[in-house]
Amino acid sequence: MHSFNVADYATRFAGRSSNIKRPREITCFSYDENHVLRHDESSLRYYYTPALHGDLSGGYDSFIKHDDSVDEHLDSLLESLIELEKKTGKRSTEDVDFVTWRGMITKIMTVPFMEDAFEMNAVFHEGSIYLEENNLYKQSTRGFQDERGARMSYWGYKFESLSTLSRPWAEASREEIENRSREIVNNKAQYCSIVKTGFGNCGLIIGGEVDAIWDCRPMNPENPINYVELKTSRQISTPNQNHNFEKKLQRFWAQSFLLGVPKIVIGFRDDHGILTSIDIRETQSIPANIKKEHLAQGLGPPPWNGNVAINFTTAFLEWLKSTLADTKGVWRIRYQQRGKQIEVFQVQESGYAGVLTDQFLAWRTE
Ligand code: A3P
Ligand code: MG
Ligand code: MG
Repeated sequence: MHSFNVADYATRFAGRSSNIKRPREITCFSYDENHVLRHDESSLRYYYTPALHGDLSGGYDSFIKHDDSVDEHLDSLLESLIELEKKTGKRSTEDVDFVTWRGMITKIMTVPFMEDAFEMNAVFHEGSIYLEENNLYKQSTRGFQDERGARMSYWGYKFESLSTLSRPWAEASREEIENRSREIVNNKAQYCSIVKTGFGNCGLIIGGEVDAIWDCRPMNPENPINYVELKTSRQISTPNQNHNFEKKLQRFWAQSFLLGVPKIVIGFRDDHGILTSIDIRETQSIPANIKKEHLAQGLGPPPWNGNVAINFTTAFLEWLKSTLADTKGVWRIRYQQRGKQIEVFQVQESGYAGVLTDQFLAWRTE
């Protein structure tokens, strides 16, 4: 068993943030309304300001909900890499140490200040570590969702459909804009961006869902893409609610930072799911703005620090890279709530336990 010490993170990982690379998109894919994979941007949505005072519960009974208990491993990410490699004739994982979904790195980034438990599976294959969520653990720790919980989760998807169009605004009809509140909400459809990025000496390929684009892709493919992350949150009326919101902002920030999504549109709602206001934040200014607000209002230190999160992630990934280099079999990465360490131990001496698909392994030996 190997372990990475998490204690005293605030002092150990303080200071200027380590060397990070701006994420650059290498490819993208979509799931259509039946959750069938398509190697295109057909499910990309276009942001368009939602009407205020809308009811986020509207259409709840006709929600078409994706069954997220099925373990999808890294399957669609790997299939996208194969597709990309066929097009470019080059290996996509050259100089890449980790291949994973954005959610895994978000979990790691938020260890210092959120302390949510997790379990992941990792395999080393031809120079890269493939990292996925341990689905059995995820299912076993998932609490029972009551009617209100299910409704609140629907609010998030409804907000996405109220705030987006299926085509750019200039091509959309007035009807499409006005009919958004009557659209059937279906979370089987998704658009995912796959980026290359880096933390310290680690190169990463990360895939993650992107909710929308502000306008269109830049003419120059070197420029950042104006993606938008959409979030809902309860409107803030007490200091305690503000504190909770600031903590949640850490996850919003980490998620968007990892894919290089520059804007987060937050839809504030009341307890009945009525949209009351919209707030647009620049992802990269979030950590500094929280610090500034705390200083200006004499609120004491903010609940989290972006540099510590980045430095912690860099240190952990560099450690994991050297720990798993040239190993065989399947490894478990485990963090227990309020744990003092992240544990890494082998669970299978050989094989890939579904982390890598047969299709991917066959492609690589071709
Ligand atoms: P909100 O984040 O606005 O609550 P994402 O923001 O990551 O794109 O996710 C879109 C929506 O999916 C969320 O909207 C929320 O409604 C739902 N969702 C995401 N993760 C969830 C979880 N762990 N449990 C319940 N709902 C979740
Ligand atoms: Mg989303
Ligand atoms: Mg969202």
